[in-house]
Amino acid sequence: MARLTTVLCAVNGPTETDVVLGLEAPGTGTTVTRRCGDLAELLAAAAAGAGTVAVVSADLAGLDREAVGRLHAAGVRVVALADDGPPERVRALGVEAVVAGAADPLLLDAVRDTAPIDDPLATSEIDLSALAAGAGSGPARRGSVVAVWGPVGAPGRTTTAVELAAELAGLGGNGGSGGRRRRRGAEARVQEAALLVDADTYGSCLAARLGLLDDAPGLAAVARVAAQGSLDVSTLARHAPVVEGRLRVLTGITRAARWPELPASSLEIVLATARSLAEWTVVDCGPLVETDELLMYDTRAPQRNAATLAALEAADLVVVVGTADPIGIQRLVRALEELGEVPVPVTGERIVVVNRLRPSAVGPDPEQAVTDALARYAGVDDPHLVPQDGPALDAAVLAGRTVADLTASSPLRTAFAGLAERVRRRAVVAAG
Ligand SMILES: Nc1ncnc2c1ncn2[C@@H]1O[C@H](COP(=O)(O)OP(=O)(O)OP(=O)(O)O)[C@@H](O)[C@H]1O
Ligand SMILES: [Mg+2]
Repeated sequence: MARLTTVLCAVNGPTETDVVLGLEAPGTGTTVTRRCGDLAELLAAAAAGAGTVAVVSADLAGLDREAVGRLHAAGVRVVALADDGPPERVRALGVEAVVAGAADPLLLDAVRDTAPIDDPLATSEIDLSALAAGAGSGPARRGSVVAVWGPVGAPGRTTTAVELAAELAGLGGNGGSGGRRRRRGAEARVQEAALLVDADTYGSCLAARLGLLDDAPGLAAVARVAAQGSLDVSTLARHAPVVEGRLRVLTGITRAARWPELPASSLEIVLATARSLAEWTVVDCGPLVETDELLMYDTRAPQRNAATLAALEAADLVVVVGTADPIGIQRLVRALEELGEVPVPVTGERIVVVNRLRPSAVGPDPEQAVTDALARYAGVDDPHLVPQDGPALDAAVLAGRTVADLTASSPLRTAFAGLAERVRRRAVVAAG
């Protein structure tokens, strides 16, 4: 006799009985092994191996992408009853199948036919590239994601992310706002040249750096919407005000303790959606990438550095920033090693930036000293060098503006303009 498909049922309201009776009917090949009152009960039953398929109400309290991911991690497929909700939103939670409701004749087939999950890691991801193309909203566009990362010791990740995004947005020079500050907010055009994302869960600071008075964390807000499966480009744009020219900012969490609000399952959606909003998405990452060893086997457990890891995984290009002094170079060499060992695939090409270059820290020929050291110890042959330029940066920080917007020319501006050029060229090569 064929084995019965075991079902965990977590359905709201009176139709729960109909679902159970339907699945228990003779000849269906299905049996309900648990009737769960809430999500916690469902997750516990799944973790205990009590079933292989979960039938859930789409509006079950707490059901989001993270919860669906945990069911998948337990080897449980998910069939959702949309009831009156829009099926696309329910599908965006990452469930295997969506049926109209308890009375939908397709329910039984959905329970029996959804492909088994052999590999708990192979969760049914929603199609991120379709999301990036902004399905149904005009011609397909796909912006690039650049993660700006680097070790501890404030090497200049934020400075690099801000100035790179500003240059990519065409600030200063011909495309710039010529020093005029523009805050167009939510009413701005949907497609922007660049979007800066503050994903540093240790020391987020983009709101303060760019002089935003409202420090509501835009990234946490859109991560929440993404967890519910409802994030679209206009919602993302609403939470990412335009600060200068065609540069938008998604601000970070206001307290480091709020890191659980930025799970990878949400960040991947945010970054995929960002590709439809902006030509360039530049992510200011936190310095740490290790995962909690104790949680390694529970791939869905919240991870302290999930936001940074999600950015590194999504990135088409990874800019690794170190600082030009003996300690900074040593940290940079270790960081590059560490990047090869992170627990997520990082396929984006690396560009190494050495910041704050100055003779006083590394000797009379700093370019040569830094280039030689990186070639010898890290096999990096073409680091991008950014000089120490206190006056330009201090003036920009004081004004809450980017150097690109404020300063017509300075050594630091020239260096970041060169970096943007390099990023553009690499992205074209990567896309081709
Ligand atoms: N090239 C430079 N010349 C002069 N000052 C610089 C330069 N780059 C960065 N700084 C200054 O160094 C400090 C740290 O820079 P930044 O905030 O960009 O580093 P970070 O790596 O993001 O640090 P954190 O770990 O705090 O996130 C800031 O005060 C910044 O203005
Ligand atoms: Mg920073």
